Amino acid sequence: MSELPKTQKAVIFNTNTTQLSLSTTAPVPTGPPEEHIIKVHSTAITNGELTWGPFVNWPVEHVPGFDVSGTIVTTVPGSKFQVGDKVYGRIGAAREGAARQYATILPSETALVPEGLDMVDAASVPMSAHTAWQALFEKGLITGSFSPSSVPHVGKDGNFVGDQAKGKRVLVLGAAGGVGFLAVQFGKLAGATVFGTASARNRELLEGLGIDGVIDYNKTSMKDWISGDEEKKFDLVFDCVGGKSMLDGWNAVKENGVYVSVVVGFKEPDEGKPAGVKSIWFIMDARGPELEAIGKIIAKGLITTSVDSIWAIEEYENAFKKTATGHAKGKVVIKVTDN
Ligand SMILES: NC(=O)c1ccc[n+]([C@@H]2O[C@H](COP(=O)([O-])OP(=O)(O)OC[C@H]3O[C@@H](n4cnc5c(N)ncnc54)[C@H](OP(=O)(O)O)[C@@H]3O)[C@@H](O)[C@H]2O)c1
Repeated sequence: MSELPKTQKAVIFNTNTTQLSLSTTAPVPTGPPEEHIIKVHSTAITNGELTWGPFVNWPVEHVPGFDVSGTIVTTVPGSKFQVGDKVYGRIGAAREGAARQYATILPSETALVPEGLDMVDAASVPMSAHTAWQALFEKGLITGSFSPSSVPHVGKDGNFVGDQAKGKRVLVLGAAGGVGFLAVQFGKLAGATVFGTASARNRELLEGLGIDGVIDYNKTSMKDWISGDEEKKFDLVFDCVGGKSMLDGWNAVKENGVYVSVVVGFKEPDEGKPAGVKSIWFIMDARGPELEAIGKIIAKGLITTSVDSIWAIEEYENAFKKTATGHAKGKVVIKVTDN
């Protein structure tokens, strides 16, 4: 602890003025004792995160950036992570984020960065991966049940085990975004037939992931694409877009299927939802062991991560602007340090 500086660079979001600024004299955290202090390498921005304050009661000066990769600086009693470990994770939204040189993270939110994944790419993973994983497997139950062995995983023998959702049809609304990009890949690893909505410019990217079909949302609505054919409907519709697309997505869910959304403003159609359909809106949960299991799949080269752009901390305004366009190709990352 004694080697840590007292002050640091930090992006500050003022919850009263809703303005972002960069402080060069923000305090370096000294605790709490149940959290590791981590030297931040990179943080990733999540679209809409600056609007979450009212749900979680931030102080007036809040540090954004919930995804983090970095190096453990302090130990926590009972934690398996040691000083010097390269780790990544998603920091709880009610706490202070990682758009700063030193941040804090709970051991339960943390996993070791998998072999072969660089620290910038690592920062792009946790929030999107947990969200996509939990949407497909825990809430959408496309493999029938949710346990470490009933979903895609790397077994004790080091071999990958997938295909647990063969025969299921999954539609990802917003397939090329941070969450959707991983949802498509998780669905394919589970052996499902996966379709996604995206614009034409992202078709090739998604086809490279093995997606079964891309529906250009600028040209076709889901209502027109389904065009009354029950066979084309999906067991799971996963909404990562909201608004008009979310409402249109209701046309694509099978009777007795599941509609899962993670976007603020989710609602059921005014005319009622299709018979037997379960709808779920949820906020992802950060779980170190889940991230570790996903990391084993990443280390085998079975998942591609997606970074839209990389910005220095001084370029925070451009980084947030890029995310806010709603058209980033994967995650926007702020690289805080080079080591
Ligand atoms: N509840 C939770 O726990 C939780 C967790 C994480 C994220 N979220 C929320 O989930 C949403 C998605 O997050 P994200 O990080 O994936 O967002 P994102 O990366 O900003 O999404 C951008 C992508 O969406 C595509 N897109 C924009 N409009 C579209 C439309 N009408 N139809 C289909 N694709 C469209 C864009 O493609 P084009 O450029 O081709 O248009 C771009 O690829 C956000 O609202 C975020 O706040 C919630």
